[in-house]
Amino acid sequence: MKQTKIISTGSYLPEKVLTNFDLEKIVDTTDEWITTRTGIKERHLAAENEATSDLVIKAAKIALERANLEAKDLDGIIVATITPDNTYPSTACWVEKGLGIKGIPVFDVSAACTGFVYALAIADSLIKTGTMKRILVAGAETLTKFTNWEDRSTCVLFGDGAGVVILEESDDESGILSTFWGADGNLGELLIQPAGGSKMPPTEETVKNKLHTVHMEGNKVFRWAVRYMQEAAEKALEKAGLTGEDIDLFIPHQANLRIIEQTVKYAKIDPKKTYIVIDKIANISAGTIPIALDMAVNEGKIKKGDILLFAAFGGGFTWGAATLRW
Ligand SMILES: CC(C)(COP(=O)(O)OP(=O)(O)OC[C@H]1O[C@@H](n2cnc3c(N)ncnc32)[C@H](O)[C@@H]1OP(=O)(O)O)[C@@H](O)C(=O)NCCC(=O)NCCS
Repeated sequence: MKQTKIISTGSYLPEKVLTNFDLEKIVDTTDEWITTRTGIKERHLAAENEATSDLVIKAAKIALERANLEAKDLDGIIVATITPDNTYPSTACWVEKGLGIKGIPVFDVSAACTGFVYALAIADSLIKTGTMKRILVAGAETLTKFTNWEDRSTCVLFGDGAGVVILEESDDESGILSTFWGADGNLGELLIQPAGGSKMPPTEETVKNKLHTVHMEGNKVFRWAVRYMQEAAEKALEKAGLTGEDIDLFIPHQANLRIIEQTVKYAKIDPKKTYIVIDKIANISAGTIPIALDMAVNEGKIKKGDILLFAAFGGGFTWGAATLRW
């Protein structure tokens, strides 16, 4: 069986930064509350004229240049997002247009914060089966455009940004060793954007009642997140014949520092080998893992042969994890 490896990474964070101190002026909150409850210090905000595809295009150009490739060398594009440019066409279609290419299959994946891991698992299968040779996978969000800035329990949590990886068939030992993914639709109501879809199309009422923004029962989501992040991490490790102690760098989805700390503890991963960027970028849903991966690469934190673990949990609920040798 062919193996799939990441040959390049790229990321883009919008220019505007909103700190916890800025938020203190918008809602009844404090830097101290946000920092101790979540680990977040600041987040990036997309500009009014910046859509999700714009962020992906910028990140994709960086990854292509680093790999010494042109957009025409890609066989497919998968964009994981819950904040697409439009309901249709897909954000991936706008990315294809923005990269100046046409003709290849491109599509979006909707799995909330687990979106990137889902997209990675799909791309891995497509390459392993020989369906495609080289795929660009992105995780990207403009969540702050779907935020209720009057709701202190959610508006402090999210940020915008895009991360991409380019995957191709491996010619050496490097590559994805295992993937694991799951979902439970029975828990969907706990983390939801209620309006804007076919269940509740947009009306004056839905806009007035801010039903096009994130609605979350934070406490309940927290408990499920700890359980499923840990389970996903353990299952992916088990499938690859690894334990938490084999991990050189753990890049988790970053919604809350306390969720990560508990996952690390139960999956027996060295906390010092866990890459944390939640303080700088907040929760970027599908964007978090590929952005953090690119940051770790840029900082020289990953060397050839290192064993990496990704794990995520998100709305749906969805969860997933992947192990790979760099
Ligand atoms: C959202 C979250 C940070 C809230 O933290 P928490 O410790 O559960 O806090 P609670 O919701 O119990 O609220 C505790 C108190 O803080 C208050 N509070 C909520 N947001 C606040 C804020 N931004 N600033 C100050 N106080 C706040 C609440 O009103 C509540 O006050 P009360 O006790 O007087 O009612 C936490 O539940 C969480 O991270 N959940 C999971 C999020 C997640 O993973 N989401 C995405 C999945 S990828």
